Amino acid sequence: MTVQTPQNILILDFGGQYSQLIARRVRECGVYSEVKPFSLSLNAINAFQPSGIIFSGGPGSVYEEGSPHPVPEIYSLGTPILGICYGCQLLARQFGGTVIPAQTNTAREYGKAVTRFDDRCELFSDLPGESITWMSHGDVISSVPKGFAAAAYSTACPAACIYDSSRKLYGVQFHPEVTHTDHGLDMLRNFLFRICHCQGNWSMADFRQQTVESLRAKVGSGKVLLALSGGVDSSVAAALLSEAIGKSLTCIFVDHGLMRKNEADEIEAAFSGRDLQFIRVNAEQRFLLRLARIHSPERKRKIIGEEFIRVFEEEAKKLGKIDFLAQGTIYPDVIESGTGSSAVIKSHHNVGGLPEHIAFREILEPLRMLFKDEVRQLGRELGLPEALISRQPFPGPGLAIRVIGDVTRRKLEIVREADAIFREELESAGNISNVSQYFAVLTNVRTVGVMGDGRTYEYTVALRCVSTDDFMTADWAHLPYDLLARASSRIVNEVEGVNRVVYDITSKPPATVEWE
Ligand code: XMP
Repeated sequence: MTVQTPQNILILDFGGQYSQLIARRVRECGVYSEVKPFSLSLNAINAFQPSGIIFSGGPGSVYEEGSPHPVPEIYSLGTPILGICYGCQLLARQFGGTVIPAQTNTAREYGKAVTRFDDRCELFSDLPGESITWMSHGDVISSVPKGFAAAAYSTACPAACIYDSSRKLYGVQFHPEVTHTDHGLDMLRNFLFRICHCQGNWSMADFRQQTVESLRAKVGSGKVLLALSGGVDSSVAAALLSEAIGKSLTCIFVDHGLMRKNEADEIEAAFSGRDLQFIRVNAEQRFLLRLARIHSPERKRKIIGEEFIRVFEEEAKKLGKIDFLAQGTIYPDVIESGTGSSAVIKSHHNVGGLPEHIAFREILEPLRMLFKDEVRQLGRELGLPEALISRQPFPGPGLAIRVIGDVTRRKLEIVREADAIFREELESAGNISNVSQYFAVLTNVRTVGVMGDGRTYEYTVALRCVSTDDFMTADWAHLPYDLLARASSRIVNEVEGVNRVVYDITSKPPATVEWE
């Protein structure tokens, strides 16, 4: 097998809100990229072997004291550089141009701007001479550095692109990575293929092969332990590790009895046939004991998190010495960690959190450079069942936070059945677009009803279905009435203990997606 020289694009992050998006766009073009802090050392830059470097945008102003700068040697490497927004201003200033605050509101540009391009600059080769770009800057380049030329112009920005093709330095004031810039992706392609001479042949198959090789080299004859939740990330991590190291991997799946209908068996079926040691711990009894008579959502979450770790540690102890603990951490987790100044709305519990009392040498996070859709793609490559790969998000505390108030086995059975019916109806309805998550909640409310000729006094089930891009905000989905009618009628007829169904029509905020 021929191993190609890796072609990597290094994105240096100056604090811009679109840094991750730049990485995604570059990978969409078939070129591997990673986002690293702007202060990356020269050694680390060289070790990454970039074919090109992109400076992201950022909130600072290049003329302010203490504004972020990369190591100065970066400019002597001869590697092509593309600066975006702040990154562009940085190039201008470092090479002797002038950047000043826009004096008037008209000189500041936020939003779409008609921009003219000079196609002598390779970034704009084979593109229309005029199109819309997305601007978001308060500083402007008032004089272009020596050796550079301007190649794009908007009303407020006389130098919306500066470049020096002999030194392979390019800067754009606008954001080519956002979809509001009409030909932004084409401009990135021009940078990658015409300027950096990338081939665009990076694929998930390459990632799989390279990661398997490096996992083998790293783990050697060591033992690896993974907490498998059955979620997409830990499942794909398990499949990848099993391909790399086979029986040296042990996966512990703690069945806390709070999974959806048939889910625990499906997870077992997906993994027990693979080349790995799979341990399923049936721990429903002990979770239910600890949850008995607990009403507070936060207490429930804490108890489940603690108990999970306890069970996991007990099992790990039986296995003897462990060298590595593996986790299904993915790229957004890596980038988002450390921004912990916001208020705690819910303490999220992710199965696979780090146990404190297991001795191990190192943590393995083979997916830490992948975005969610890339993790799914890799899961398909590895032959995981589609039901596991396209699984919608499911909270670590499981159905315990979809049973409002105290949790009992009977209440879990009710919510499990109602949830299965709702999902079945929604999925068999087919083309319902724009739904991200849907489930049933067992409210702790019992109401009076009538069935046959008799009075009933049973539970109310709430159905929840939301559409969202990022789960930070969400809209309730406008599901067709006939679908809601079918789900409601089936639930009251088929699930004993339910005589009323309601549909949750609240967005997030002010509500959250889950009820607890
Ligand atoms: P909320 O209810 O906070 O939910 O609007 C946003 C998304 O997060 C999921 N969620 C969790 N996921 N552990 C998880 O792994 C948790 O403790 C947890 N709580 C909520 C929720 O299902 C939704 O997708």
